[in-house]
Amino acid sequence: MAEFTLPPNSVVKQGKTFRAASGATNIKRFIVYRYDPDSGDNPRIDTYEVDLDSCGPMVLDALLKIKGEMDSTLSLRRSCREGICGSCSMNIDGENTLACTKAIDEIKGDVKVYPLPHQSVVKDLVTDLTNFYAQYASVEPWMKTESPTPPDRERLQSKEDRAKLDGLYECILCACCSTSCPSYWWNSDRYLGPAALLNAYRWIIDSRDEATGERLDALEDPFKLYRCHTIMNCAKVCPKGLNPSKAIAETKKLLVKRRL
Ligand code: SF4
Ligand code: SF4
Ligand code: FES
Repeated sequence: MAEFTLPPNSVVKQGKTFRAASGATNIKRFIVYRYDPDSGDNPRIDTYEVDLDSCGPMVLDALLKIKGEMDSTLSLRRSCREGICGSCSMNIDGENTLACTKAIDEIKGDVKVYPLPHQSVVKDLVTDLTNFYAQYASVEPWMKTESPTPPDRERLQSKEDRAKLDGLYECILCACCSTSCPSYWWNSDRYLGPAALLNAYRWIIDSRDEATGERLDALEDPFKLYRCHTIMNCAKVCPKGLNPSKAIAETKKLLVKRRL
């Protein structure tokens, strides 16, 4: 039987344990992935005992407490702490999500914190999303028009047409969906992934946009769109409750419809 092993420099090693201050009685263990590619060291798992009596309720609160009080070398992204900016996405308790909206008390046992899967690690919990953002830019996520702008008003939209954007415009580009998608893991160089495709669809169905045909032409490609196999991981993990797989299916339907 074939045996598969990681190259020696990829094997994740056991790291250090940082104990809570003596006297702490409400302790939760955070098991955190650590990796600094520039150091030449293997990735490791560090353990932090966090005193929940002096910690906010969310996983991000604990990570910031760790960074502020226990180990300043831990790297992570965060900005809004409100589930709006999308920067604190990571894999917590086995699922991609936002650290700032994931409550610690939802997690039984130790809290396992890893970077988003299948992305290069810049350091610790920070992944390189260059390709992800380039794919988003490739769908040209802005309104394209050819008709003259009305001189005295904005380009208007009926309430019904505006409602078609619900469930799409709320995307915060956190990448939880794309980095949980098996098709994206294997083909992220050519498959656009659920986040970029949801945003492509958001402009395809915007009644004010006048480049629908051009947008559909750009997606009619065996890899960019059709690598979605409706596995639905994307909809399961989206922290904003969006459904990229539905947007992808609707795009496929529009491509079929214009051939009939
Ligand atoms: S439904 Fe499509 S985009 Fe979503 S996880 Fe599955 S393959 Fe990926
Ligand atoms: S669709 Fe959801 S999971 Fe995907 S990038 Fe947008 S907000 Fe994040
Ligand atoms: S810090 Fe902005 S979404 Fe979590």
